[in-house]
Amino acid sequence: MKWNLEGLALLAASLTCAAPVHAQSATPAPGNETIDVAQLFATTCGWCHSDGGRAAGKGPQLMNTTRDDDYLRDRIKHGKSGAMPAFGETFSDAQIDQIIKYIRQLKPHEG
Ligand code: HEC
Repeated sequence: MKWNLEGLALLAASLTCAAPVHAQSATPAPGNETIDVAQLFATTCGWCHSDGGRAAGKGPQLMNTTRDDDYLRDRIKHGKSGAMPAFGETFSDAQIDQIIKYIRQLKPHEG
């Protein structure tokens, strides 16, 4: 094959495809794998959002939050200076969606 500009562009395109740039893609790209949010709260978020987000710690209770999805997404992505670390580098948008879904379905413990 003779290398020309078109070939290089194709090569570049196929290389970038390895990165999770296809938000619409049916198969989850690396970084879009499902995460265990309950586990995440047990390890990472639970320092400040106690009992899996059901109770306040250093941060507010997340269960029954009156904030909308955009607010929650923004807080998780960007954190708040001096209050909560930013997790935008840690999680993909799809994973943050999962976290929001988890928060929405939180219920008090049975019994
Ligand atoms: C170091 C403590 C700390 C950690 C760790 C932490 N948070 Fe927070 N979080 C806070 C504080 C404090 C606030 C309130 C910020 C404010 O004043 O708006 C907050 C706010 C939030 C909010 C907005 C809720 C609301 O009603 O204002 C969400 C959602 C949230 N955190 C999710 C998470 C998730 C998910 C994790 C783990 C990936 C996490 N937090 C880890 C301290 C923390």
